[in-house]
Amino acid sequence: MSFILWFTGLSGAGKSTLANAIVPELARRGHPRVELLDGDEVRTHISAGLGFTREDRRTNVLRIGYVARLLARNGTVAITAAISPYAEDRDEVRSKSEVPFIEVYAGASLDAVAARDVKGLYKKALAGEIKHFTGVSDPYEPPTRAEVVVDTGVETVQDSLQNILSKLEALGLVKTVSQFQEVRS
Ligand code: ADX
Repeated sequence: MSFILWFTGLSGAGKSTLANAIVPELARRGHPRVELLDGDEVRTHISAGLGFTREDRRTNVLRIGYVARLLARNGTVAITAAISPYAEDRDEVRSKSEVPFIEVYAGASLDAVAARDVKGLYKKALAGEIKHFTGVSDPYEPPTRAEVVVDTGVETVQDSLQNILSKLEALGLVKTVSQFQEVRS
């Protein structure tokens, strides 16, 4: 069965890294068709022109949810990796989903992501040069019932990846690598 794997977390928390790392792992476990809707990429295509107001973020998240639903109902696993800071918007996408909706909270602390500052944006946001920056001057509402929580501030990518795959296996959404090889042989 297909599913939606919805990452949420602060900018720089490792959503895209984990989402990219999981694609080949799903192929090894019986899901050859996987699409990744990455936050930054979506904003250059279907959400080009949107900013970061409450309304624009909601529009962005609902669009991602819409495309993810189309993909998933056609048998493709849809992985999303946008900050998606508002619980209400994530829950709306969840409630509309016809396939299992698996929310993964990339829960690195603000201190951890600001210290790493991969894109150099936290420095600017903390200096007041970027207004309404998530976690600094704009809200981030952590999920209260995420299926998986990974602390990307302290765990390695491999640990977090394993954590997510174990949950998907426990839910019966992916096979283990050996189960999949048995089926094929
Ligand atoms: S969301 O809130 O609508 O889900 P999305 O994931 O698409 O956000 O975009 C976040 C990315 O946009 C960040 O990783 C960062 O590179 C960039 N960005 C630019 N301005 C902001 C801002 N004010 N708040 C958060 N991210 C921003």
